[in-house]
Amino acid sequence: MSSLIITGGYPVSGEVQVQGSKNAVLPLLAASLLVKGTTVIEHCPDISDVTCMLEILKSLGCTVLRDKETVIIDAEILGRSAVSRQNAEKMRSSISLLGALLGREGRARIPLPGGCSIGKRPVDLHLMALRCLGAEIEEKDELYAVLRKCHSAEIVFPYPSVGAVQNVILASVVSSASIVMRNCAREPEVEELCMFLNRAGANIRGGGTDTIIVTGVKKLCEIRYIVRSDRIVAGTLLSMAAATQGDITVKGIDPFELSAVTNVFANMGCQVKLYTDAISLRADGRVRCLPLLKTLPYPGFPTDMQSQLISVLIQARGTSVVRETVFENRLGIVPELRRMHADIVVNRREQAAIIRGRDKRYLHAAELMAPDLRAGAALVVAAMAVEGTSTIKKSEYVERGYENMAQLVRSVGGSCQVLSE
Ligand code: EPZ
Repeated sequence: MSSLIITGGYPVSGEVQVQGSKNAVLPLLAASLLVKGTTVIEHCPDISDVTCMLEILKSLGCTVLRDKETVIIDAEILGRSAVSRQNAEKMRSSISLLGALLGREGRARIPLPGGCSIGKRPVDLHLMALRCLGAEIEEKDELYAVLRKCHSAEIVFPYPSVGAVQNVILASVVSSASIVMRNCAREPEVEELCMFLNRAGANIRGGGTDTIIVTGVKKLCEIRYIVRSDRIVAGTLLSMAAATQGDITVKGIDPFELSAVTNVFANMGCQVKLYTDAISLRADGRVRCLPLLKTLPYPGFPTDMQSQLISVLIQARGTSVVRETVFENRLGIVPELRRMHADIVVNRREQAAIIRGRDKRYLHAAELMAPDLRAGAALVVAAMAVEGTSTIKKSEYVERGYENMAQLVRSVGGSCQVLSE
């Protein structure tokens, strides 16, 4: 187990080149199984979820080489189509291997991905959609799936699930079928998967919109691809500036992908400047409160930025309400912020946090525990804002999505050390 030791209470500032996107690269790594040859992915983040996914690819028979931010996967020959429980339980994204293995091998055995602290994480939409393609799926403690021949289908998603849309794309992109999907997730990570596959010779239209059409092709060709930057890591850095009344510029990011987040920070009184591939945020004085903020599927305010926003709002002028509408249990940060004397209560029925902003003089450094990846990152933001030294235990959660959080904090002038127990 490891902890982060953070001394805060002063403005931070700096320019940061943003790491590659966790949620974009994980489906691309799964998609590399569909290329009977070599796939090169650049700007791949060095995070534990990627390490785990690479282990899974190796266990399936791929050759995997890694040189800093470049990963080379040779999926010419696969030996297995079953993912081990040990690996699958380490991260939820192993579910994207279901679609990739069905697309490549026509069969797959995947342990049911466990729930996590933010919710039960069901896969019913994945299974519904794959069954529309003709997949036969048995659900025991593992998913046993067979897809003899991908059928053409029109699929309407009752909810725009990112992972379920990605799984259908992976299962059907190499086939003789034509798939129309409606009410699709519009997240940039869905668009990235479509761009990656089209670069490899696929025929997918509408990536990033609510209607996606996959026209199956015979095969995909080898490619080299540079994965886009992580919009949530960028948003987390901007939160550090908002929380400490500092000034941070994030580089290598498309500001359009974060417009819901930058609009909210601007409404809170931050000075936000957008550039072609950068965003800067400066906060002078306490931010304004938000009467009501709901997390929503893209292009709405991202659920993955909800905890970081709350960490900023604990010192806003006035009372804010943040409602989590995507996951059923994603307010784990609240009890931790209350240890810092933040004035927050939760309305469980509404899955809403009511935050009465306090001047940071009344907030205290504390011993904290990361409840999950994004709440862990949000505790870093809060610890940077308040006077004194805070400890954030279980910081291995943070390592799942942030390359080196301690280094990231120091790169903007913050103080952060790692304590490994
Ligand atoms: C992806 O998860 C991301 N993970 C999540 O980021 C992100 O929060 C989420 O999309 C929403 O943007 C990765 O890309 C690896 P969903 P995913 O399917 O695909 C329910 C992070 O911190 N649902 O869009 O699992 C589900 O329970 C992570 O980086 C079903 O009910 O998200 C949730 O309430 C957290 N049945 C909602 O839909 C299903 O079959 C959104 O889930 C699938 C999902």
